[in-house]
Amino acid sequence: MIDLTSIPEDKDDLDRYEVENNFQSWSYQPDESPLRVVSAEGVRFTTEDGRERLDFSSCFISHNIGHQDERVVDAICEQARTLTSFAPSLSTKPRAKLAKMLSEVTPGDLERSFISLGGAEANEAAIKICHQFTGRRKIITRYRTYHGGTATAMSLSAGDSRNWAQAQGGAEVVKVPLPYCYRCSFGQTYPSCDLRCATHVEEVIELEGGSEQVGGIIAEPVTGANGIIVPPPEYFPMLREICDRWGILLIADEVMTGFGRTGKWFAMDHWDVVPDILTVAKGLTCGYVPLGATVVRKHIGDAFKETFFSHGATYAGHALGCATALSVIPIYQTDNLIENSEKMGQYMLEKAQELKEKHACVGDVRGLGLFVGLELVKNKQTKVPLTAVDAKIRKGPNPKMKIAAKLSELGIMTMAANPVNVIAIAPPLIANKDEIDEGIALLDQALEVGDSFAEE
Ligand SMILES: Cc1ncc(COP(=O)(O)O)c(C=O)c1O
Repeated sequence: MIDLTSIPEDKDDLDRYEVENNFQSWSYQPDESPLRVVSAEGVRFTTEDGRERLDFSSCFISHNIGHQDERVVDAICEQARTLTSFAPSLSTKPRAKLAKMLSEVTPGDLERSFISLGGAEANEAAIKICHQFTGRRKIITRYRTYHGGTATAMSLSAGDSRNWAQAQGGAEVVKVPLPYCYRCSFGQTYPSCDLRCATHVEEVIELEGGSEQVGGIIAEPVTGANGIIVPPPEYFPMLREICDRWGILLIADEVMTGFGRTGKWFAMDHWDVVPDILTVAKGLTCGYVPLGATVVRKHIGDAFKETFFSHGATYAGHALGCATALSVIPIYQTDNLIENSEKMGQYMLEKAQELKEKHACVGDVRGLGLFVGLELVKNKQTKVPLTAVDAKIRKGPNPKMKIAAKLSELGIMTMAANPVNVIAIAPPLIANKDEIDEGIALLDQALEVGDSFAEE
């Protein structure tokens, strides 16, 4: 064994450890190390080569308040010096206060939280609570969605190529289409469709055994990793009514959309819908320390006074994570970040629409708040995708990877939404007009690579 106190750390050493000793997420294991990040501030980060780059992905939509906010770093240091964590059977001040704060900021009577370590865990807890509360095992999920990398969350991530290689686990999953108006699964056009995608859910509930068999439906209010898909305004109110009719729980996965990303505290606030269970992570602590939470409505929480709550974790309600969230969440309010997301989001959407006019490879542009997607096509009339839907899990280059390489060369990071044809742009919610203009100008250049694969 090498001397563990002096592991060599030159650039070549670190590169080798990455290639030989570390798993890179969701990819073929590469022959070269990814770029190494050495620091970050606000909407920018610096890589080992000394280059400053623009973060137009908020690190997979997590760093909503921007990088290295000193108020949060100070709060973390203070809590670390006081009490990093303790056994979850006892209380800590940060855990108690965060549970109260979550009940304040989340919609309606969502008021009891299970605090975990990330988004997938938050969804696992949501499904377990749903099973325990309703006594039913079937869960409806929608195609083109991602709910996390753990076994049950992965089974619920229908139509995301990352789930294809996985064994199914946890829940009995029933899949339905979502409202994807650009490519409607029912061949209809909004609004004359009368929301066929919503009424179809009711049909499926009935066929799957209704109130005896179906416990819940899980949905991202605005689909994130599968293409920034914004539903028509009637969709979630209709789902709410359907769930109420059948006594089925509506589970909103707001891991990406929560905490201001769409221009409201939570995306469900756009439609005044209170879900039965709401899951959060990412913007809860903005990645400064990992944390997630599953928040349930009062009557669901109260039911566990008489029923054994069959869930837990050693690090549940982790003190350092909770203290981080307690310093992050007020920043959305004091710095008016929700309002900025709405205003700058509108501006960014207009700028992205201009790119659609200009570039042959941009078929559709959509978004809500600072959460905008550009869908890439070979041909605007036929809507043939620029890159095959399964390209992400196939080895070898594809047009989308070439655009991503160009973006990296230009010094900007965006999020590659699945199926690989959507480029998601989502800077931290502190972004101003100049920073958005800068990002859009770089994207404009990179889309020329896409145009070379498209038909005029
Ligand atoms: C909507 C949604 N749910 C759940 C997750 C999983 O979160 P985590 O990666 O923290 O486990 C993600 C991650 O991107 C997500 O976008």
